[in-house]
Amino acid sequence: MGKLEGKVAFVTGGASGIGRAQAVRFAQEGARLVVADMDGAGAREVADRITSDGGKAVGVAVDVANEDAVAAAVSAAVDAYNRIDILSNTAGVFDHYAQTLEADRKLWDSVLAVNLTGLYLVTNAVLPHMLANGGGVVVNIASVAGLFGGGGGAAYTSTKHAVVGYTRQLSAGYGHQGIRVNAIAPGAIDTPMTANVSHTAEVQAWMQQQPARRLGTPEDVATAALFLVSDEADYIHAVTLPVDGGLAGTL
Ligand SMILES: NC(=O)c1ccc[n+]([C@@H]2O[C@H](COP(=O)([O-])OP(=O)(O)OC[C@H]3O[C@@H](n4cnc5c(N)ncnc54)[C@H](O)[C@@H]3O)[C@@H](O)[C@H]2O)c1
Repeated sequence: MGKLEGKVAFVTGGASGIGRAQAVRFAQEGARLVVADMDGAGAREVADRITSDGGKAVGVAVDVANEDAVAAAVSAAVDAYNRIDILSNTAGVFDHYAQTLEADRKLWDSVLAVNLTGLYLVTNAVLPHMLANGGGVVVNIASVAGLFGGGGGAAYTSTKHAVVGYTRQLSAGYGHQGIRVNAIAPGAIDTPMTANVSHTAEVQAWMQQQPARRLGTPEDVATAALFLVSDEADYIHAVTLPVDGGLAGTL
């Protein structure tokens, strides 16, 4: 029997990279999936792949920064499955290391809108359904840029620190009502988000100085997320787990 048998999981950013890997992994463990992404065609493609592998999934197009779109996507999920047990807040955008003087108001607002306000909007739309069912589990995808400076630019690093704080507060506010919340801080993971930098000679040389001596894979993060959302992690609340090949521990 799978570790998530009978559960319904809602994964944002599920069309690509870390979100996609979680959707596929959770489905392999028996969860029924809602794959939600701005890229609706990509989300449906991931849902189709899960379905053709024998799982259950629907793909929905949603901009997590748009409150009405989020409400519609969560309603569609509840219509399809009647419940949501697991929420993975994974959708995010990068600022390509723009320092504050290089971050114009448009970039700043757009990164905050997706990485922080999006997380708040999706969580607020899903949480009432979890509370009505007596509980649920949330995993928020932060970043090592949420633990120290230098992992992104001004906007990205600010939002990822905020994701760590939001995770702790969500746990403090709703843990006693059966809501278990944790975050993951991935290091350098090989996904489309990082494709233009992660294979440069400079990054490869830097990687050789890290304990794991390799880039992470989306599956490395999905495995950790699976553990955190499963009942095996029942006593783990409010942590931010680095999945970074040792980066944060050896700075
Ligand atoms: N790749 C890394 O090295 C790395 C490291 C640390 C943290 N992260 C975090 O992991 C998460 C996933 O990143 P990834 O590397 O898989 O990137 P990715 O670009 O492969 O995937 C991000 C997904 O989010 C979706 N998305 C973007 N804006 C959206 C919006 N407004 N509404 C809905 N969906 C939206 C995109 O369409 C895409 O499918 C992000 O939050 C990112 O900050 C990534």
